[in-house]
Amino acid sequence: MKKVVFKVILFNVLVILFYMYVGQIIPQIESHPPKEITIAAGMSATELAAVGKELFYSKGTCVLCHAIGEKGQRAPDLAGVGERAKTRKEGMKDFEYLAESLYNPTAYVVEGWQPIMPVINKPPINLSDDEIHAVVAYLQTLGGTPTVTLETKFAAATAPAAAAAPAAAMKVEGADAASRAKSILAQGGCIACHSLDKPDRLIGPSLFDIGKRKDRAYILESILEPDKVIAQGTPPYPPGLMLGTLQGIGFYQKVTAENLLTLVDYLSTLKGK
Ligand code: HEC
Ligand code: HEC
Repeated sequence: MKKVVFKVILFNVLVILFYMYVGQIIPQIESHPPKEITIAAGMSATELAAVGKELFYSKGTCVLCHAIGEKGQRAPDLAGVGERAKTRKEGMKDFEYLAESLYNPTAYVVEGWQPIMPVINKPPINLSDDEIHAVVAYLQTLGGTPTVTLETKFAAATAPAAAAAPAAAMKVEGADAASRAKSILAQGGCIACHSLDKPDRLIGPSLFDIGKRKDRAYILESILEPDKVIAQGTPPYPPGLMLGTLQGIGFYQKVTAENLLTLVDYLSTLKGK
């Protein structure tokens, strides 16, 4: 009996030694929980910019659309933005322009791009004012020197100018229904997030075969209440982004019922190849 107990113990010891040995030779696979991002009062502009950089690549989801140092497909390359922000708008300091780009993205739309950038202090991105200060300090480093601290005031830049403007109905021209629909798709910024003639995924699913996959009721609902049903995709599609963008550009105030029907009719004719 004693012998058996001894054997069991010896076996266990050997097993433990074996695992210790294996543990030594296999490089440790550590799990990295998402790093806690803390913003402390009194941080220097450089320290704040480092936090801003982390936010840019994580919670800010800026890289969904922007690249730095290469031409993005969805949004302008932000390399050098710290420098060009100084001259973008007359009478506006670089950090004021950058802050305005985040709080009120449609106040200045970079030439050649669609106004699809979401308001950054609103859902789904929802950065706090302190976090926006950090991101602005980081943007300054892209071609310039960070000066922004938590003390910096952005007041003028953050006033919701867009909300004050009365919503004029969308101007839709075109001889036939299809060209009117295309005009609405362009003005709604839809074409920046959806491809219409190819199966390629952009920020949202391709709509090139939406008329085959879905009925008119679903299409209308997807436009009016984008988050009610979230389209399936791998990686998953970001909820809230379409709604936030359409609200941001005042789409729902500007689109008429007639425009919506034209749009839904057109989309339901898209049957893919
Ligand atoms: C859904 C896509 C999208 C996301 C997400 C997005 N942007 Fe943008 N952004 C754009 C587009 C498109 C433009 C150009 C049109 C415009 O000016 O609104 C732009 C413009 C800008 C500009 C102005 C650039 C210039 O040259 O004047 C800045 C600065 C900027 N974005 C920063 C950010 C930051 C920082 C984030 C993350 C917190 C972010 N964006 C997230 C699409 C996006
Ligand atoms: C900022 C990017 C963005 C803009 C602008 C945008 N969408 Fe979307 N859209 C998405 C994303 C992301 C999804 C998938 C998540 C979801 O279902 O809400 C989506 C989903 C859809 C769907 C459902 C697709 C499916 O396969 O189930 C339709 C239809 C649609 N969008 C139409 C439009 C139309 C029409 C416009 C313009 C009026 C528009 N979208 C503007 C990003 C956008």
